[in-house]
Amino acid sequence: MSPQQQRLRDELIAKRIAAAKTHVVKAVFPFTTNHHETLFGGQALSWMDETAFIAATRFSRKSLVTVSSDKVDFTHPIPEGSVVELVADIIHVGRTSLKVEVNIFVEDMYRDGVQKAITGVFSFVAIGDDKRPIPVLDGFDEETGLSN
Ligand SMILES: CC(C)(COP(=O)(O)OP(=O)(O)OC[C@H]1O[C@@H](n2cnc3c(N)ncnc32)[C@H](O)[C@@H]1OP(=O)(O)O)[C@@H](O)C(=O)NCCC(=O)NCCS
Repeated sequence: MSPQQQRLRDELIAKRIAAAKTHVVKAVFPFTTNHHETLFGGQALSWMDETAFIAATRFSRKSLVTVSSDKVDFTHPIPEGSVVELVADIIHVGRTSLKVEVNIFVEDMYRDGVQKAITGVFSFVAIGDDKRPIPVLDGFDEETGLSN
């Protein structure tokens, strides 16, 4: 790849990463919690996978499947009756795969201030009609960075 092609590719990736950033806000109602009256871990993982999936889809505009989830750290409990914001960012662009970091921030409903509570990384692979991997960066206008 020539330096010019590399520069265009880097610019395309930067534009797609910016467009892919995803925020999802949820209320922690009783049907999402466990017997400790905190957010159930499996529920948190489901929300994180979904938010990461949306970010990866916005990046690639291709059909994606989750291929792995890396270590997920639960560093702060999320009480029932709080509000959480999930924030997903593309952190690695491979040939056919993407890595997405998701952070969950918790806030009290009746007091200002947020705290990071959970962090994890999810990997996705773009697949074609035959269910085999396809390049994540095909099909974009290199000048505008938009899908064709
Ligand atoms: C996703 C799938 C098509 C990949 O097939 P595969 O034969 O492993 O593909 P490859 O070995 O060619 O790898 C393709 C890419 O995935 C990456 N990859 C494969 N396994 C991975 C893993 N466990 N973790 C992270 N990345 C992985 C490879 O590094 C490669 O990335 P790159 O092209 O960016 O370098 C296949 O594993 C699959 O169908 N898995 C089931 C997915 C699923 O059902 N998910 C749950 C429902 S959404």
